Amino acid sequence: MDGERLLSRNARAMRSSLIRQLTGLVNRPDVISFAAGSPNAGTFPHEQLRQIHNDLVDRERGGVFQYSVTRGNARLIAAVRDRDRRLKGVRLGSASTLVVSGSQQGLDLVARVLLDPGDAVFVETPSFIGAMASFENVGAKLFEVRCDRQGMDPAHLGARVAEARSLGHPSKLAYVIPNFQNPAGSLWSRQRRREVCAAANQAGLLVLEDDAYGELYFDGVDSADLAPLKAMPDSSHVLYLSTFSKILAPGLRVAWVHGPEPVLRRMEYCKEAADLCTSTLGQRLVLEFLRRGWMPAQVGRVRSFYSAKSKVLKAALGEHFGRLARWRVARGGLFQWLDLPEGVDALALLHASLEADKVAFIPGAPFFAGKPRSNSLRLSFSNVEDENIAAGLSRLSRRVRRALA
Ligand SMILES: Cc1ncc(COP(=O)(O)O)c(C=O)c1O
Repeated sequence: MDGERLLSRNARAMRSSLIRQLTGLVNRPDVISFAAGSPNAGTFPHEQLRQIHNDLVDRERGGVFQYSVTRGNARLIAAVRDRDRRLKGVRLGSASTLVVSGSQQGLDLVARVLLDPGDAVFVETPSFIGAMASFENVGAKLFEVRCDRQGMDPAHLGARVAEARSLGHPSKLAYVIPNFQNPAGSLWSRQRRREVCAAANQAGLLVLEDDAYGELYFDGVDSADLAPLKAMPDSSHVLYLSTFSKILAPGLRVAWVHGPEPVLRRMEYCKEAADLCTSTLGQRLVLEFLRRGWMPAQVGRVRSFYSAKSKVLKAALGEHFGRLARWRVARGGLFQWLDLPEGVDALALLHASLEADKVAFIPGAPFFAGKPRSNSLRLSFSNVEDENIAAGLSRLSRRVRRALA
């Protein structure tokens, strides 16, 4: 029996994302791939993690391999709260904290405890595909909100909330990534953060702020510009989500959420049913890394690594895409977004470019909850060797010229 006819209504509606489908295609060794969105493994502090691992195992024997509490290691929670207050100005007030198995699990748990089928979620244009999948998996209806150079447009958020209401979709949640968004690489202005935080509050929405990339800023960025919505005076309606995946290592699967206790308690129950607890070993490795005071130097190294790579990318874009595309140079994170001339279809371009030039990227269309801009694409530079960046973009620009001709 293949089980197909026994699937739940929910499961039948689920689809693998285009990105997952493309991954096998674009991660071939003979391809220069701007597709893989993962951090560069060279930034993982493997020697320090090996030392900590060995010390923990020597000292505690089997203990670090035991189950642990669902809420998360209490000392790790205290350390993360202290760090977020000090480094990012996060105002915790009465907010509690839950450790999750990657921020992707945080997104999934938020969706499960807040959203009923038909509930409206307001997302940026474009937005992170993994979050949209979590919302859609529970039957939520996504409403795109316009974004400009400053970030999400608060007036349009208000208008979309009114529209959702008139269509009978209860409005629950706005999902935002103000720092170096995946996929657009965008950075919200300080004013826009204040305005969207206030507009959401006025509309009675919770805000899910995903800050996966806020610590990955490049040279010249003022870290005060990166203060999260959760650092605003009136931000008790903000659920703040962040992760050790990009600054330490994603395979540890350690991330966290700050938010109102009633919501977090339900997320904890839901997590218990999903995986009982976040990896005990993963949490202890992170906690010990923090305790030994190694994080500032680690984050500094990671920042320098991507900052240098982004400069190579910026130069290569200027050289090869001059009048061929529009873009705003990403000032942090792992992604650079490009808008090609109208009429160029990025999916068709990918197929041609892979086939003929062995260059891969991710077409922009799947990142749109509404009408896709099919002439857009996402370049990830984290895993491309410096010397291949210019070569890859040179080939890609030739392919775009050919498509235009
Ligand atoms: C915006 C954003 N949020 C969340 C995640 C999930 O990260 P993790 O589950 O490793 O914390 C990613 C991963 O790419 C991301 O780009």
